[in-house]
Amino acid sequence: MQVPLLDIKQQNSEIYDDLKDGFDRIFCSGQFILGPEVEAFERNFAALIGAKHGIGVSSGTDALLLALMVLEIGPGDEVISPAYSFFATASCISRLGATAVWCDTSADDFNIDTARIEDLISERTKIIIPVHLFGQAAAMDNILNICRKKNIHIIEDCAQAAGARFDGQQVGGFGTFGCYSFFPSKNLGGFGDAGMLVTNDDELATKARILRMHGMSKQYHHDYLGGNFRIDALQAAMLNTKMSHMADYIERRRSNAAYYSDAMSKIDGVGFDESCAIILPVEKQRNFHTFNQYTLRLKSGKRDELKRFLDEKNIGCQIYYPIPLSDQKCFINNSKGKENITVAKQLALEALSIPMFPELSSGQMDYVIDSIAKFLKRL
Ligand SMILES: Cc1ncc(COP(=O)(O)O)c(C=O)c1O
Repeated sequence: MQVPLLDIKQQNSEIYDDLKDGFDRIFCSGQFILGPEVEAFERNFAALIGAKHGIGVSSGTDALLLALMVLEIGPGDEVISPAYSFFATASCISRLGATAVWCDTSADDFNIDTARIEDLISERTKIIIPVHLFGQAAAMDNILNICRKKNIHIIEDCAQAAGARFDGQQVGGFGTFGCYSFFPSKNLGGFGDAGMLVTNDDELATKARILRMHGMSKQYHHDYLGGNFRIDALQAAMLNTKMSHMADYIERRRSNAAYYSDAMSKIDGVGFDESCAIILPVEKQRNFHTFNQYTLRLKSGKRDELKRFLDEKNIGCQIYYPIPLSDQKCFINNSKGKENITVAKQLALEALSIPMFPELSSGQMDYVIDSIAKFLKRL
């Protein structure tokens, strides 16, 4: 049997006819960039999140970059970033000449360790970027308390967590901005690169729209140094169609995660606490986890061995992320706090994501579970 890490084709083929309608509409309209299809998607997505404005952009990376540009982040400013995330979370900080300040991770949910944030704040700190990693919200109550006290903006990196909730509220609406990716593997997966910025602030939304389009307040009047961060109409039309299925996709991810957790916690050596050989992911209280990834932890150097074993069994698995951001070469001279990072380093050695997508069958999951049990017996 073969079990891929994810299977994009299956999901899209289920709604092929509806997607084709969107393609036909765009084909006939001749409006390929921005326009009414984009506006409709922006309105619908913002409504889903409970935010006032949605600004469609070219990728999740550009959503983060644009949010930082709107807030005029630059040299001399500090932005707190988790040390354990995808590259784009922090690269946007350095691209604007600001300094990334690394915050360590909490091992139980892979998210920023909020107990460590206050010690990292200086008079230069302008922004914190919590990432809702693997589909689960960071502890937004703690982050909001700190940021309100210290007058710091929050930019939420929701790239992996569309549809996730904290205390019943959708992520993305807590901060000044929420940034989403519609990269094909995400909870709402597009047909190439695309992203979205959400905000409740009218003025910041207007400025984001201007910066998205070369900083033009009106045609050929460039008030700011903007960029081309526009979303294609085709992406918007197709994503709008897929959005009506998003809640179902997430329910199926959650039910697959529950299936994995139920079965695997019955295997000797597998469980939820630190004493287990394989530690399963948890949904923290107050969270609605979307399981964009189902990520195991293996101690004592066994992670790479399990990866090789699953590779041999034709089971897709991936190490997110093998090197913490704080140890990446390109951040050596433009970041701070690397010396305080320990948990992110540990997770980089322990984490392994196994197949997770809504259409995963119980037969496929049984094969994965059975293979993991066989691996443990060999130890
Ligand atoms: C946490 C995180 N932030 C940002 C991004 C960037 O999104 P995109 O690939 O759409 O540029 C990703 C995408 O993988 C991500 O996982």
